[in-house]
Order: sequence, then C-alpha cells, then structure tokens
Amino acid sequence: MNYLNELKEYAKEHYVPIARLDVVEYLDTLIKKNKYQTFLEIGTAIAYTSIYLALQNKISIVTVERDLQMFKTAKDFINKYQALNILQIYEAASYFYPENKYDLIFIDANKSHNLLYLQRYLKCLTSQGTIVIDNINLNDLLGDVPIKKKQKYEMINQTLIENIQKIPNIEYQIKREIGDGIAIIKQSF
Ligand SMILES: C[S@@+](CC[C@H](N)C(=O)[O-])C[C@H]1O[C@@H](n2cnc3c(N)ncnc32)[C@H](O)[C@@H]1O
Repeated sequence: MNYLNELKEYAKEHYVPIARLDVVEYLDTLIKKNKYQTFLEIGTAIAYTSIYLALQNKISIVTVERDLQMFKTAKDFINKYQALNILQIYEAASYFYPENKYDLIFIDANKSHNLLYLQRYLKCLTSQGTIVIDNINLNDLLGDVPIKKKQKYEMINQTLIENIQKIPNIEYQIKREIGDGIAIIKQSF
C-alpha cells in the first residue's frame, strides 16, 4: 500500500497528527464485520484514515476539517488516490450538525470538545452504529508539553470518561491497547 507510506511520510515531515494504523485497521474491521455503509470523521487532517477506509471498502464517507490548509492538502491526496467516495466538509465541528445518520463515527478533532461532539453525534448514529473516540491515553498528544497543559488534558479525558458512564442507553468500552487508546460507544436498547 504505497499510498499509506506516502501519507505517513507526509504526516511525519509536516508534523501532522494522524491516527495510528491499528486504530484505522480497527475501524476497517468494524466496517467489514457490521457491513457498515456510512462513515463520518470529525477531524480530517490529511485524510489518512478516510483514504484508507475509502479504498478498502464500498462505503460513503463524510469528513470534516476546520483548517483550510489541511482541507486543501487532504483534497490533493483524495484526488491523487481517486478516493471518490469521500465528501469533504470545510467547517468547524462545533458548527456541523449533520442531517444524515452514520453507521460509524470517528471523533478525532480538538480533544477538549470530545464530550460535546459525543453528545451531538450520538443523535446521528444509526441504531446498530458505533462511535469511536481517539487518544484516550493522550500519549500522542502530550509529548513535551508543559505540566499544566498535561494536567488540563488529563482532566478533560477523565471528565470525558466519567460523563460517558452517565449517558443513558449506551454501552461503551475503553480499549487502551489500541493505538493511543480509544473509546467505543454503541447504543443499547
Ligand atoms: C488528529 S488530527 C485528525 C487525524 C485524522 N482523523 C486521521 O486519522 O488521519 C485532528 C484534526 O482535527 C482538526 N480539527 C481540530 N479542531 C477541529 C474542529 N473544531 N473542527 C474540525 N476539525 C478540527 C485539526 O485541524 C486536525 O487536522
């Protein structure tokens, strides 16, 4: 898969954070196992995850990005790899209220808003659908950040997990061993 190497190299060279490969593979497995047909991604970056899933599956993808430079770079890669089943939206997620429902929703944008996005996008989830939130461990984000910022991020994720537990009619799992840790949320009936 040459495209994966190129995208990974680009991300490394330009310091673009992308999901780890085992997270993308996990999303791919969910799509295949559940025969999912629609995927919404919050936070495109260079479309690493979206391009992988688009080329591996017959799936309709919508991906949202607020940074214009990222949006344009993602467009170039999407065109280059002919990932025609990807619809890009240039918008800040806080202003993005989808009209459609999605089978799989990947929340991977500004981590401080994860709870807000979870609450909002749960309403856009199909009955058998799954939401995945990335970076529950925060290892990929913290690096050498000052201690105060580190504590702030840790508090945000702690609050996220505490609040996930309080949301009615959902079931959730935290898988810390996948990528940088993911939360997996489904509706329960
Ligand atoms: C970790 S990267 C996404 C990686 C991508 N999901 C992947 O797997 O390759 C986070 C991206 O979210 C974008 N972002 C941050 N806040 C956002 C927001 N409020 N709305 C939309 N995109 C946002 C950033 O510009 C960045 O490109």
